[in-house]
Amino acid sequence: MFKKLPEERKTAEETGLLARIDRSRLPQHIAIIMDGNGRWAQRRGLPRTLGHRAGVESLRDVVKICVELGIRFLTVYAFSTENWKRPREEINTLMNLLIEYLQKEIDELCANGIRINPIGKLEELPASAQKAVLMARERTRLNRRLTLNVALNYGSRSELVEAVRTLAQKVRRGELAPGEIDEKLISSHLYTAGQPDPDLLIRPSGDYRVSNFLLWQLAYTEFWLTPVLWPDFRRVHLLQAIVDFQSRERRFGGLL
Ligand code: FPP
Repeated sequence: MFKKLPEERKTAEETGLLARIDRSRLPQHIAIIMDGNGRWAQRRGLPRTLGHRAGVESLRDVVKICVELGIRFLTVYAFSTENWKRPREEINTLMNLLIEYLQKEIDELCANGIRINPIGKLEELPASAQKAVLMARERTRLNRRLTLNVALNYGSRSELVEAVRTLAQKVRRGELAPGEIDEKLISSHLYTAGQPDPDLLIRPSGDYRVSNFLLWQLAYTEFWLTPVLWPDFRRVHLLQAIVDFQSRERRFGGLL
């Protein structure tokens, strides 16, 4: 199991929230846009890069609670195709944090049955980052308790373009008739093939955007938005999101 730090003892709020969660109706798949690292740092007069470092702690906390609860899939937005527009130093920090996280945590991730599934145009990442993510994917590939999709150089439109290209090639080769293309087939050509769509999307830091994240997969996802900045996001916030999620009526476009 994960090593316990003294400050990780459950608060009364956490215990109360845990008691309210119906374990038979957990979201199977949670997606998170880890936003607000820059603002968190700026508010403290720190460089933005320290905000990203603090954000890794939140990720650790959330991964742990997901494993404890029995959530099967967690998708986190770590680097978008648009993030290349940021200053070189910030990009380098993000890549180094990723490498550091994977190297430091790999044993604990394995011991807890976590499969690291990087999603995005990995071939465009710097060689050192590619090496780290491919190592983590390989070492954790048989783990089944929690699949952690790490979106890296990820853009949903680019994911859809790739899927359309692959399908078009299959049609051209005569392997597929246009009429055979349906929603299931498109889903099976995305990075999340074989996984359930996210039940719950969490966006911290007060913005109300999807930011080119999982556009196809979010068709019927419940959104939970909070002003809390990602580096301040802790297990208690995840529990709040799940309690709120369980209070909603999901109709998937139909009637109850
Ligand atoms: C958005 O905050 C956050 C990111 C672009 C990066 C998220 C990355 C991490 C939390 C750490 C690295 C990931 C792993 C998997 C180890 P922002 O910089 O846009 O914040 P702002 O909107 O306040 O400026």
